[in-house]
Amino acid sequence: MLSKKRFVTLLPKICDNQGIWESLVSQQKEFRLASLKVAPEAFSSKYERESQFERSVWESRLKNPMAFTFVAIATEDTSPSTAELRLSEVVRLPWAGMLVLVAVMDEATTGAPSHTPSECFRPHDKLDTPHLEFQLNAMFVQPAARGLGLGKALIEAAIAYGQAVSEDKGSLSTRFTVLVGSENLAAINLYRKAGFKATGEEVGGRIDTVPVSLEDTDTTLMEMWVD
Ligand SMILES: CC(C)(COP(=O)(O)OP(=O)(O)OC[C@H]1O[C@@H](n2cnc3c(N)ncnc32)[C@H](O)[C@@H]1OP(=O)(O)O)[C@@H](O)C(=O)NCCC(=O)NCCS
Repeated sequence: MLSKKRFVTLLPKICDNQGIWESLVSQQKEFRLASLKVAPEAFSSKYERESQFERSVWESRLKNPMAFTFVAIATEDTSPSTAELRLSEVVRLPWAGMLVLVAVMDEATTGAPSHTPSECFRPHDKLDTPHLEFQLNAMFVQPAARGLGLGKALIEAAIAYGQAVSEDKGSLSTRFTVLVGSENLAAINLYRKAGFKATGEEVGGRIDTVPVSLEDTDTTLMEMWVD
C-alpha cells in the first residue's frame, strides 16, 4: 500500500477565484453535516439544526474573523509536490479531518461583529497579564482516516497558529480550551496527549455567534496554557 501524504491547511477567509470559493463553502458545509451525522454524540449542535442553515451561514463561518478553519487531507495522490497544498488541490482532494479554532470573546465584546482576535485580549487570571483565549471546536476525522495522526496534526496546527497570533502581539500567554464529552475517550486521550488537562470547570460553548446549550451533555472542559 502506498503511504499517504498528510497535509493540514488553514482555509482562507476570502478568495478571488469564485469557483474555488464556492467549493470551499460547500465542502465545509458537507464535511460539517457529515460529522454531525456520523458522530452526533460528539457535538453540542445537531444535524437537524445545521442542515437547515442557508448558504450564507456556511459562508459566514469561513469569513468569521474570529474563527479559523483547518482541514486535514491524507492522499496517495503524488501530484502535490510542495509542503503546502494549493487551494485548487484543497478543493480537489477529499477532506479527511477538520478543526475550527475560535477566538473567545469577553462578555464586554460579545455581540460586536467586527472584533478580531487582537481586540480580544483578556486579563490573565493566573499571571495578571493579558492573554488571548481560543476554543477548539468541530473536531472530526473521517472514520476511514482515523489512527493516522490527523487529529493530532490538526491540533498542532491550530495551537501553532493561535500561538503565532499571540506572539505577534508581544510575549503573551495563550489559553486553549476544548469541551469534550466525558465519555468520549478517543477525544479525551487525543487532547491529553497534545498537552491539555481537564479543569473541572463548566462553561457554555459557542459556534459562530450562536450560543449552544450543553445542559443535557456531560462535558469536560480541557485547557492548555502556552506562554
Ligand atoms: C477523536 C478523533 C478526532 C481522533 O482523531 P484521529 O485522527 O483518529 O486521532 P490521532 O490518530 O491523531 O490520534 C492521536 C492520539 O489520540 C488518542 N486516540 C485517538 N483515537 C483514539 C481511540 N479510539 N481510543 C483511544 N485513544 C485514541 C491516542 O492517544 C492517539 O495517539 P496514539 O495513536 O499514539 O495512541 C476522531 O476519533 C473523531 O473524529 N471522533 C469523532 C468526533 C469527535 O469525537 N470529535 C471530538 C469532539 S471534542
